[in-house]
Amino acid sequence: CGIVGYVGTKPAGSVVVEGLRRLEYRGYDSAGVAVVDEGVARTLRCVKKAGKIANLDKELADHPLPLTGQGIGHTRWATHGAPNDTNAHPHLSADGRVAVVHNGIIENFAALRAELVAAGIPLSSETDTETVAHLIGRLLDEGVDLATAMRRVCVRLDGAFTLVAVDRDTPDLVVGARRNSPLVVGVGEGENFLASDVAAFIEHTRDAIELGQDQVVQITSSGVTVTDFEGRPADVRPYHVDWDLTAAQKDGYDWFMRKEIYEQPDAVANTLLGRHSKEGKLVLDELRMSEDDLRKIDKIIIVACGTAFYAGLVAKYAIEHWTRLPCEVELAHEFRYRDPIVGPTTLVVCISQSGETADSLMAVRHAREQKARVLAICNTNGSTIPRESDAVIYTHAGPEIGVASTKGFMTQLVACYVLGLYLAQVRGTKFDDEIAATVAELEAMPAAIQSVLDGIEPVIKLAEEFADEPSVLFLGRHVGYPVALEGALKLKELAYIHAEGFAAGELKHGPIALIDDQLPVFVVVPPRGRDQLHDKVVSNIQEIRARGARTIVLAEADDQAVEPYADLMIKLPKVSTLLQPMLAVVPLQVFACELATRKGHDVDQPRNLAKSVTVE
Ligand code: G6P
Repeated sequence: CGIVGYVGTKPAGSVVVEGLRRLEYRGYDSAGVAVVDEGVARTLRCVKKAGKIANLDKELADHPLPLTGQGIGHTRWATHGAPNDTNAHPHLSADGRVAVVHNGIIENFAALRAELVAAGIPLSSETDTETVAHLIGRLLDEGVDLATAMRRVCVRLDGAFTLVAVDRDTPDLVVGARRNSPLVVGVGEGENFLASDVAAFIEHTRDAIELGQDQVVQITSSGVTVTDFEGRPADVRPYHVDWDLTAAQKDGYDWFMRKEIYEQPDAVANTLLGRHSKEGKLVLDELRMSEDDLRKIDKIIIVACGTAFYAGLVAKYAIEHWTRLPCEVELAHEFRYRDPIVGPTTLVVCISQSGETADSLMAVRHAREQKARVLAICNTNGSTIPRESDAVIYTHAGPEIGVASTKGFMTQLVACYVLGLYLAQVRGTKFDDEIAATVAELEAMPAAIQSVLDGIEPVIKLAEEFADEPSVLFLGRHVGYPVALEGALKLKELAYIHAEGFAAGELKHGPIALIDDQLPVFVVVPPRGRDQLHDKVVSNIQEIRARGARTIVLAEADDQAVEPYADLMIKLPKVSTLLQPMLAVVPLQVFACELATRKGHDVDQPRNLAKSVTVE
């Protein structure tokens, strides 16, 4: 979910709704806003609608909000209760005095709800959030101030929550509270902001304050006060956002996703920047571990979800090959609840674009409790996962707004390669000239990705041709296998059609039964090399062609061995096997994006999804 709060001299209604628009990637099941009407009798005006912000816009056009400088808003990814108007946030207390928005899940809400029902308070929604509005409202009625009421309620809540509240009877104040889910303060002149992400206020100010775990913040038009849940002053970290509004806009593209696909060459170059010397030696000061400590590591476990998990799968091949360290990759939610073997000599690497995914965060916490060293690979400065990790390698992809990750994935790969090479350098498992050669190859990747994009036309045509296919398969071996998984995920996420990724060698052990006449199958073919990988995949292609599949082959441009078996060959520049995912994934991203566009889907905001899922 996305949350915004504002106090200042601008019209709060528009500031909040514009902020929500920039947070819509976080959830778009419903949206709502509440402002304090400072008319003769102060009232709270709350407008909320199921569906995207466009629906809220329509409602606001018919019933404009009063001009006032105090308001809050919310864009929802539904957890408790269906995504309808009633369950949309903000939620109001029984007498309509306080409005609350919330991101997260309040786990003990059933008990709180029962307490309110027993006290005779009528509940109008099915949400956990409404209970908070009533609890705060009751304290306000007893004469407690809003910030104190927020603190008192927070200590009663279990689970993850960011809450923002406004009180009809307290002018010039919005209060927020944070546990687990993100909340940042935007510091302006004569105005202040609260939001789940700086994107919400970036057009007003680039000065931000990161809130810590279990903190309550009060913003007025002239100041910001932060305390812990007990009311003691808390330490906060101010920072300056190093990108501006243009980075969060579509810049002439129709979809953020398309823009982000085309930004990949730059994103890769930016992520490599400053991380190696001219001689090809890796420099990774941010690891914050001595070389001695790094040599003591005896196992790496990568934890992540979704697309980031697939980046981790690629990383395993590279890291094990380069460092000879065992490297496991696990879905964060599986890792967390299965009693994994983790200790002080384990390096746990959490990959997360947003730095907020609750499943990944819980895995990080669990790893730290087991005394493992935790390294985050993350794209969002100051987000929760890096804050709670021992160290962080930031990917410098810039804001990623399309819900389906593209440049996020690409730069995660870069960060993983850099990490693997650095470990190999420190542990002496690869010669310096071999490392330098791979670094040089990485440096050449922005141009190679650009050339894939320049030659993308046949993929766009293919997407048109395949728009009505009910099912598509993706095959790969070695690092091509996670690429196949990612290609299938993209198609599921965006085009809502059945798509599966398989390890090419596994096909004959079952999935080959799916192949029938004309089924489109994408195959990632490894570069030709000394190993037998390439030839094995070519054999797999023949097996499926023999059964009638149409084969779309991603292979090196001059790979004549595979060409006869391809209905269409998508030609990739020459690159070593381990780095090939950076090239092979690009046509698959474009294919999914174009096919979904043909089907008339919202590519940036696919149904049922959200970009950062801040609940477990
Ligand atoms: C959500 C998104 C996915 C993303 C995953 C992990 O499910 O819809 O696109 O890959 O979260 O996100 P993270 O921010 O942790 O990389």
